[in-house]
Amino acid sequence: MSEQPDLGFIHRFVPARDDTRKPLLLLHGTGGDENDLIPLGERLSAAAALLSPRGKVLENGMPRFFRRIAEGKWDREDFNTRTIELAHFVVAARVAYRLPPPIALGFSNGANVAWSLMLRDPDLLGGAILMRAMLPFDPRPLSDLDGIPVLILAGIDDPLVPVDQAALLAALLGEAGADVTYEVVQGGHGLTADDLSLAGGWLAKNG
Ligand code: MLT
Repeated sequence: MSEQPDLGFIHRFVPARDDTRKPLLLLHGTGGDENDLIPLGERLSAAAALLSPRGKVLENGMPRFFRRIAEGKWDREDFNTRTIELAHFVVAARVAYRLPPPIALGFSNGANVAWSLMLRDPDLLGGAILMRAMLPFDPRPLSDLDGIPVLILAGIDDPLVPVDQAALLAALLGEAGADVTYEVVQGGHGLTADDLSLAGGWLAKNG
């Protein structure tokens, strides 16, 4: 880990060992932090640069990327403001660390802010893996996602994210022009071996 410049978010940055791999923007779930997804990033795209911010909102002491009022009920104003704030961080980090557009690898709350980042600024990311993302409202009008590759991984028995919502998100991002791959694995909200294998295979092609 190198010395961290102040880019507005507590974060970790792991430099690339292979500059041909797209960097990964790691976005943790509720209660995670900047350390959480580093091992997953290293496992899925071994030599890529890793950029991992910590969400700034605290829910009972647990970091998140935006405020929610209840499970599946988001504070929409905070969602928008925090998305912009995180987008500024990504822009600043790209300059500071000299990075091309990263692929977001987001889990749960991190996956939700990842699709928001993409819709707000289609040039910000080089793609996204959205693991257990949800779509609690219709975010239309949509930006033009112009072939951006996206992998959506849903769990058939996910008690937090109804699988229909993940399917709707896949349809919506497809409607916006993204190149969407949608996979449903046997499992709940937690990640399974199938998630890792699908994400690894997708990154080998798109990362
Ligand atoms: C969210 O609020 O982003 C979703 O409910 C996922 C979660 O963090 O549990």
